[in-house]
Amino acid sequence: INAQNYTPLKVDKRFKVQSKVTLQAYPFDLDEVTLLEGSPFKNAMDKDAAYLLSIEPQRLLHRFYLNAGLPTKGAVYGGWESEGLSGHTLGHYLSACAMMYASSQQKVFKDRVNEMVTALAECQKARKTGYVGAIPKEDSIFTKVSRGEIKSGGFDLNGGWSPWYTVHKVMAGLLDAYLYCGNQQALAVVTGMADWTGKTVNPLSPELLQKMLKCEYGGMAEVLANLYAITGKKEYLDLSYKFYDDFVMVPLSKRINPMAGKHSNTNVPKAIGSARQYELTGLESDKTIASFFWDIMVHHHTYVIGGNSNYEYCGEPDKLSEHLSDNTCETCNTYNMLKLTRHLFTWQPNSELTNYYERALYNHILASQNPESGMMCYFVPLRMGTKKDFSDQFNTFTCCVGSGMENHVKYNESIYFQGADGSLFVNLFIPSRLNWKDKGLVLTQQTQYPTQGNSQLTLELRKSQKFALKIRKPWWATNGVQVKVNGQSVASEPDANGYIVVERTWNNRDQVTLDMPMQVYSESMPDNKDRIALLYGPLVLAGQLGKENPDPVYGIPVLLTDNKNVNQWVKSVENSPLTFKTQQVAVPFEVTLIPFYQSYQQHYSVYWDYFTKAGWEEKKAAYEAEKKRQKEIEDKTVDNFRIGEMQPERDHNLTIDGESYVSDALGRTGREVRKGGSFSFDLKIKANSTQASILMTYIGDDKGRFFDILVDGQVLATQELKGGATGKFYDISYPLNTSFTANKNKIRVTIKAHTGKTAGRVFGVRS
Ligand code: AHR
Ligand code: ZN
Repeated sequence: INAQNYTPLKVDKRFKVQSKVTLQAYPFDLDEVTLLEGSPFKNAMDKDAAYLLSIEPQRLLHRFYLNAGLPTKGAVYGGWESEGLSGHTLGHYLSACAMMYASSQQKVFKDRVNEMVTALAECQKARKTGYVGAIPKEDSIFTKVSRGEIKSGGFDLNGGWSPWYTVHKVMAGLLDAYLYCGNQQALAVVTGMADWTGKTVNPLSPELLQKMLKCEYGGMAEVLANLYAITGKKEYLDLSYKFYDDFVMVPLSKRINPMAGKHSNTNVPKAIGSARQYELTGLESDKTIASFFWDIMVHHHTYVIGGNSNYEYCGEPDKLSEHLSDNTCETCNTYNMLKLTRHLFTWQPNSELTNYYERALYNHILASQNPESGMMCYFVPLRMGTKKDFSDQFNTFTCCVGSGMENHVKYNESIYFQGADGSLFVNLFIPSRLNWKDKGLVLTQQTQYPTQGNSQLTLELRKSQKFALKIRKPWWATNGVQVKVNGQSVASEPDANGYIVVERTWNNRDQVTLDMPMQVYSESMPDNKDRIALLYGPLVLAGQLGKENPDPVYGIPVLLTDNKNVNQWVKSVENSPLTFKTQQVAVPFEVTLIPFYQSYQQHYSVYWDYFTKAGWEEKKAAYEAEKKRQKEIEDKTVDNFRIGEMQPERDHNLTIDGESYVSDALGRTGREVRKGGSFSFDLKIKANSTQASILMTYIGDDKGRFFDILVDGQVLATQELKGGATGKFYDISYPLNTSFTANKNKIRVTIKAHTGKTAGRVFGVRS
């Protein structure tokens, strides 16, 4: 790094503090890049814009008014807006409208932003503390924090659901209102919130601070670092470092992967915070955290679509093939990973970063939106035979609806970057127009990509200029990229950073054409080379399995061939662009494949099991028996409680009495309670069943643990864990006789440690 003497090429006048490190590339402003008609991205943006306009700001403001003691002007929205995360959507909505205004200059979006900022300012004034928010019980939560009374767990701080997460969303929305719409009042409101944050957390000892940070705190570090950059006030930079969770930051700074068993979306924003802090301070450890985190996530925890996590959590590195569920790939994680990627790209442009960006953009972000209704996925599921579940317009408001509002209005942000040497990076092949005002260049990109692997760039220049055009060579273009300038082929070998560099004196109306032949190919899972996904160019393909939930044993074909050259048995369907069909390979039926982003009406599979013919003869019986066994377990299961994970614990009304901790082993989370304490949760059962039981999962590592299992206050069993094989999970089944199940479809289970003893860890509960 060159933290002291570096003079940035591009000075962003909105920031008093510019980057202290040598940036190699700079993003363009949103108003400099316009999406052109004819791509799925433009459609996605239009659908999102319409959705934004269907939302009523006054309804999003409901609880802000209520908490400020002011009259409300619209009914509260449903879903998570009526729950503990209330207010988070308003933050995203502000950001999305602000970016939409910046991209399109449509006044209606700026009006929305201004209306909401004015309302937030009124609420802030009424509250008199600098704080403004919509979180239930927020005064008590934060007053206790400021007094050092902190009870915190993964998603709970003094009885509130990740309150700093929501505070961050509101602050980030306000900053975007300032940055993209020039709203000065928004800057004043967010500054008030930051000062209040300082008053709340600055008095805490390092130990208490770390205790508080056990609970998810979203992007607090990032937003405070940004506020420092805008205002130049060092106190906000210092405050941003208060949100530094040693538990994950210390291992990351030492290049140790701490992510197995960790909640993904809690941690990606921490790395983004470090990325921003590095830019503003030049501190090497922050750079290490951000770049090492990117590396482990992308290379060891990411599925083929570019998303990560199963039930929101990361498992062990490179162990993905047995973690294909209806709850893989939370969309927020990728929203955040793309933000992180953009930071890293500006430090050292590299096609490894932008290849990931393209993969995730097409196959997760774009694929998370219903292209007709514009509604979004919370999880983008990868279970074989699954289907996408889209949000409801006004009654869902999960975290991913919020981040989704932003995702689809900013497809123009990473297509091009300006190189510090005056070059121009072309990262993505999306029909668009770049208006690079400072350089007097308008570049128009026309392309049918990804339907066809080509693109045409036309340069309009006020005066001829020498500079390098740096075109990303996509990872999948194994047959090369042909580049022509005004019809003449030019050298197209990529440089060390994976970019094809065409440096010359460019004249007005010069034209560059790119030809990148696409083909079908496969990628294996890291831990199972015979579980594969099929891709075409940048696109992950999804096999269409019909409107009905397919039978897990016979409804999801396996691929049977000795020929691993997929091109020979996946053929494109004539007159149907981007549609393919397997040929004489899938059993029991051939499959039609379409791009994953277009797959929203049918059940599908992205992953397939591949066998050689001889291998299938040998393994068929065992493979089908295993699928049947899994199906039987699923059919018999009334409730499957993934204890230790955030949303499942919330859904099962988990309560704690005493000292209870969540920890992970082998990528699974388990809960224990110490010193005679207990925890309780609801579990669904089949009323009056004579076959009912509770199946608990423990781990061989835990011994000397003594506890009772109670059902609705009655002891069902007393359990001693004496230990077993290290690193191995095992199950114990507790039959429920009819006295426990009579006329009930829900029971309350309590795990109660004996005096002075520990109960658990419990890694899973099924009824
Ligand atoms: O807890 C807030 C958000 O909701 C988390 O970041 C996300 O994973 C969750 O579902
Ligand atoms: Zn989410």
